[in-house]
Amino acid sequence: MTGFQHAIIGCGRVAPNHVDGFARVPGWSVAAACDREAHVTAFAAEHGIPRTARDPQELFADPGVTSVSIAVDHAQHGPLVERALRAGKHVLVEKPICLDPAEARRLTALAAQHGLVLAVVAQHRYDPLVLAVRRWVADGELGRLVFGAVQLKARRPADYYTGSYWRGTVAGEGGSALVNQGYHALDAIHWICGDVTVAGALAGRRVLGDVIETEDTLSGLLSAGGTPVTLNVTVGSSEEWRSRIELVGDLGWIVFDLDHPGRVHDWGGSARLDSLAGAERDRSLAEEPPGPAYYGTSHRRLIADFCRSVATGEPMLSAAGDAVATLDTIVELYERAQAGSAPAPD
Ligand SMILES: NC(=O)c1ccc[n+]([C@@H]2O[C@H](COP(=O)([O-])OP(=O)(O)OC[C@H]3O[C@@H](n4cnc5c(N)ncnc54)[C@H](O)[C@@H]3O)[C@@H](O)[C@H]2O)c1
Repeated sequence: MTGFQHAIIGCGRVAPNHVDGFARVPGWSVAAACDREAHVTAFAAEHGIPRTARDPQELFADPGVTSVSIAVDHAQHGPLVERALRAGKHVLVEKPICLDPAEARRLTALAAQHGLVLAVVAQHRYDPLVLAVRRWVADGELGRLVFGAVQLKARRPADYYTGSYWRGTVAGEGGSALVNQGYHALDAIHWICGDVTVAGALAGRRVLGDVIETEDTLSGLLSAGGTPVTLNVTVGSSEEWRSRIELVGDLGWIVFDLDHPGRVHDWGGSARLDSLAGAERDRSLAEEPPGPAYYGTSHRRLIADFCRSVATGEPMLSAAGDAVATLDTIVELYERAQAGSAPAPD
């Protein structure tokens, strides 16, 4: 792979993970950083990026730019992805792909029609532990699954929202605890178990009622291929970040955290599962994360796969269509929660 030039649109919290990922792929470079705000200059200087732009159109119009990351507020994902694809750029967009499932389907079809790679960042799909658990489930190491429990406890103080132009707003974020922070835990269930449908949901503002117009807490009941899975996500906990998944089958069970470096906490069952889970527990993942620790290090793995796909035309391990399924579930959880009764603030 040689001479591929990538541009990053949106130089906020997650952007360093994109710089880090592309800088590691031989033959690729981050050629431009774009942000509509003036801090793009400092961001580019800090990360050694040679060119800056304030308007994404400048980069879309440049034939030298191979691909773009889109790392802005959720509401702009759809329109920017579409403009980038129509300009012939391969696109890596942060989760969620956009806020409207019909638009998401149009975007994946547009990418296919133009022969371009469209990938959605759900980096935990590439975590070694998540891939191992996914394999164990597929290989029947847990037997027949009887239930799953997924949760994300996060703490987001008021100024996280009041200091942002988009967070905590329906128009900009499209939701909060689920579509933003809880996305990864839900997406992991899609990836590990597949075939997710929604049986019910409740959502509300338990602690941030004066600050945000979106939900700070959501609970859902899902079916993953017939297995009941409970989902609890909140940005109102006292713990900064903890995403935990428990899967229980008739031959074994496992409890693990997604959070870097991915921890197996408990398991039981066959001697084989014991040996597999024990090896995962002892695996060393001593890589230094480029951003907040709970973002992990798998942007690197996902970006390497994106670059491979652009260069070879081969599909990625996880395609944009997978992200559409996760978006379908998110939208349905919100619809169910809106139809049901929401937990009232204390
Ligand atoms: N995968 C992860 O672990 C992870 C972690 C954090 C954020 N995210 C996702 O990344 C995206 C961005 O989140 P963030 O926390 O970095 O947001 P942020 O608010 O910190 O940064 C967004 C940046 O985009 C810029 N921007 C907005 N509109 C623009 C436009 N039209 N052109 C150029 N620049 C524009 C803003 O000025 C801002 O600097 C969201 O989709 C979020 O859900 C993912």
